[in-house]
Amino acid sequence: MNTNEGLSAILQAVMRNNAKAVKDKYYPCWHLAPVTGLLNDPNGFCFDGEYYHLFYQWNPLSCEHKHKCWGHWCSKDLITWQHQPIALLPDEFYDKDGCYSGSAVIHQGQLILCYTGNVKFEDGSRTAWQCLAVENQQGGFDKLGPVLGLPEGYSGHVRDPKIWQYNDVWYMVLGAQNLDKQGKVLLYRASHLYQWQLVGELAGSYLGGLADAGYMWECPDLFELDDHFILLTCPQGIKREQQRFLNSHSSAYLIGDFDYSTLQFQHGDLIELDAGFEFYAPQTTLANGRRLLFGWMGVPDGEEMYQPTIANGWIHQMTCPRELHIKEEKLYQQPVKELQQLRQKPAYWQGIADDAPDISGFSFELEVELFGSLTIYFSDTLVLLIENNQAVLKRRSVKSGEWQSRFWSGEIKHLQILCDNSSVEIFFNGGAGVMSSRFFPSEKRTICFSGKDTINLTTWQLKNTLL
Ligand code: FRU
Repeated sequence: MNTNEGLSAILQAVMRNNAKAVKDKYYPCWHLAPVTGLLNDPNGFCFDGEYYHLFYQWNPLSCEHKHKCWGHWCSKDLITWQHQPIALLPDEFYDKDGCYSGSAVIHQGQLILCYTGNVKFEDGSRTAWQCLAVENQQGGFDKLGPVLGLPEGYSGHVRDPKIWQYNDVWYMVLGAQNLDKQGKVLLYRASHLYQWQLVGELAGSYLGGLADAGYMWECPDLFELDDHFILLTCPQGIKREQQRFLNSHSSAYLIGDFDYSTLQFQHGDLIELDAGFEFYAPQTTLANGRRLLFGWMGVPDGEEMYQPTIANGWIHQMTCPRELHIKEEKLYQQPVKELQQLRQKPAYWQGIADDAPDISGFSFELEVELFGSLTIYFSDTLVLLIENNQAVLKRRSVKSGEWQSRFWSGEIKHLQILCDNSSVEIFFNGGAGVMSSRFFPSEKRTICFSGKDTINLTTWQLKNTLL
């Protein structure tokens, strides 16, 4: 895409489709979604002391995984977001097949993006460059070009740089695939942003006690949290288990210790980050001492292209922003407290689940204290069953019409559920487990409860931030 032609094509697409998307009954009331086209990974999530910036993989021209640009939103409160000028277009030889995922840092008062320039060749092969871009006076970004080519011993699948600074040294984790088709996370180091040195493999398939853990690890993110280190990663090709890693690509984490003097990461087993149907490519940032996360509420799979929103020219959305903590060696995710500002008047109810009042509409938050089994019918396409220390989320596939299930195990005492017009995020026991999923209900818009045990319910309708 040449810059001028690219911008004008995007403007046309936005003008043509914007109203269509926003009027779609499935368009979110308060989650971030594209005004037109396809959204995938959160990118460049950062806080500049006043504003949160969230960039995102965006194809403004269609609902396919093509022409990846970086869209840009910013916000003072993580609730209301303003559109910013499009940050990156794939208009250079080194990023012509997509400005792929990456991260952002604030350095000497300037916002700097580090992203993957993806280049595909006619024979089907590809290469990748890790590139920089710097904010300009107009709120756009000037590309500084590639700072890193492919490392020796790896395929063209090397991408998604996450960079940070520690004690005046820059670090980068990078997703990679070696020539034996094993997924890895590479660690780089630099004394300034233009000159990176490969330290080695930080984690991956056949490393640190892991056996075959997939052919490619995308979107790594390494950070310290509550006296531990967490490596987020999206292993592709990991073996499906009976109740875990059931999506076509998974999002997982390793918990352990990273030592800045030896640059070694000791860790345990891969743990699934979110057990729902749609969650991928999360990215975190540190803001005023809080570790915050956005995820893509989508998965690159054969189902996505059957989602009904495509008819209205848009597809996918982000998760809600979440705050992370570690308790008892496990990662906990909770919706950020700012989201409570969306709550309208609370409604309380207590009794046997079968007698609970229905909830109408889809933009609501629900807290449930449970004392046994419970079933929640979200629609004709989504049901949550809680029984015998297990949650099963059943959803009707948009592709085949068949019911499919996702699982979370544990003694479930508390649920926090955030719902929007076509999404649900279910937090079990204060965030010990999460399920994020899209669903596309038919016209009937009521949520009902069933069960013989007692529940305590608090319900809030949520304000629409996108009006
Ligand atoms: C993850 C991903 C990244 C890549 C981007 C391209 O969803 O495949 O690895 O950079 O999407 O849009």
